[in-house]
Amino acid sequence: MNSLEKVTEIKHPVIARDLTILRDKATKTDVFRLALGRISTILAYHALMNIPLREKPVQTPIQETTGYEIDADIVVIPILRAGLGLVDAITNFVPDARVGHLGMYRDEVTKKPVDYYVNIPNGIENALVLVVDPMLATGGSACDAIAFLKSKGAENIRFTCLISAPEGIEKLQTEHPDVPIITAAIDQKLNDDKFIVPGLGDAGDRIFGTT
Ligand code: PRP
Repeated sequence: MNSLEKVTEIKHPVIARDLTILRDKATKTDVFRLALGRISTILAYHALMNIPLREKPVQTPIQETTGYEIDADIVVIPILRAGLGLVDAITNFVPDARVGHLGMYRDEVTKKPVDYYVNIPNGIENALVLVVDPMLATGGSACDAIAFLKSKGAENIRFTCLISAPEGIEKLQTEHPDVPIITAAIDQKLNDDKFIVPGLGDAGDRIFGTT
């Protein structure tokens, strides 16, 4: 099921326009959320690429033909809190997807992820697990989250983010080479504070209006 490119950087005019809105420090919360919602839909479309289908006959007004339904258990795992901003786009496509939560923040001094909440649905060993977080910076949070999910039995994992740094991509690919990365932008680098450059600031603060 994971027959995706190792790294998919989606190029699309709508994404280029919406990333500009998200990067702009003058963008207010309402406009930020709308742009994030649009990009999230495109990310979700790619994250769900190649998922299994089973045939389901359908009667059109003209005749019966072959239709399809999703033949996979989809579990979405947002890394709290900013990852919540990417969940609705996936559940809009897959309304019966189950959602687990991993609470993790990056310590402001050490820049290392700190766990504070876990609620993962049963049965992730047979599911397609979509881990979502807007930012892949050092990659520490994503790597820890994925290692934890693997320790709980997950075998089929994809990671989706809005913006990524080359450093985070390299770390994630080194530690979890089986996990495809879907991103809307690979930025230049991390700065000395481990923020993505040019980035968009703190995604969680901007989504939830906590700056
Ligand atoms: C941000 C972001 C990722 C993490 C990325 O979370 O949403 O979870 O940092 O950094 P890393 O790749 O270096 O680990 P943050 O700590 O700001 O928490 P929040 O989602 O609660 O705002």
